Amino acid sequence: MSTPAQDDVIAPVSVEQSKAASPAAPNADRAVASRTRAFDNPRLRKDFADQGAFLYLEDFLAPEVTAQLVSSARGLLDEVNRNYLPGHKQGGSVSRHTIDRLAPFIAELYRSKELIGWLEQMSGDKLQLSPVDDPHAYALYYYTRAGDHIGWHYDTSYYDGRRYTVLLGVIDESSCRLDYELHTRNPDVPDQPGSVQIPPGGLVFFDGDKLRHRITPASANEMRVSLTFEYVTDPNMRPWRRFISNMKDAIAYFGFRQVFRQMTARGKDRA
Ligand SMILES: [Fe+2]
Repeated sequence: MSTPAQDDVIAPVSVEQSKAASPAAPNADRAVASRTRAFDNPRLRKDFADQGAFLYLEDFLAPEVTAQLVSSARGLLDEVNRNYLPGHKQGGSVSRHTIDRLAPFIAELYRSKELIGWLEQMSGDKLQLSPVDDPHAYALYYYTRAGDHIGWHYDTSYYDGRRYTVLLGVIDESSCRLDYELHTRNPDVPDQPGSVQIPPGGLVFFDGDKLRHRITPASANEMRVSLTFEYVTDPNMRPWRRFISNMKDAIAYFGFRQVFRQMTARGKDRA
């Protein structure tokens, strides 16, 4: 396990270099609308509700968006922060702070009014962006070494409101699967197991407190990258929950410097 200090070393890749290596970024709103307007949205809304706040679409993103994400995911390989929690989690991640610097199209896609509007239509909730100091707001997850995986868990909301997760398939040269169980928190409906392999451009959307899920371990010489977006219905968080959430992120995902640099910055702003 590498130390947080090592994890946070910034590779000498300039924004200009990164942009030069990428195809021209599409317009996020237009690209999302080109897809969502063609869907049978009332039926998808019903599927989401029937599945206990879960939806999987294997072909969601416009091809030019997928191409842009693939290019970004490969371009950010030097920025990946590796993490390892014995028995629960092993893999890599790139936080929103790095994405903001080096892959701004991802931040634009996260904020796309067309995307948020469609997710609101599916969930029936008014959605808000996650606060700027939440490293999960948007992040890339990398499964690049044998055994990379994440064990069974919920995307628990530490916020006062609900927390929704979007997973977008970016690169899948792997045998990894998203295994899940629907309805586990609903005593009136039997648990329903499922499993999908999310291809590039595929989408999974769910209420983090309702879907029990895991990513199965990668084998040798495999590579999987997914992009996650988090939206909330109420961005307030009680201080003790914020502490637990920050500690979890520092240990399990992004490293102490990434997480607590934001806290320090906020503290200074207030002083
Ligand atoms: Fe998760």
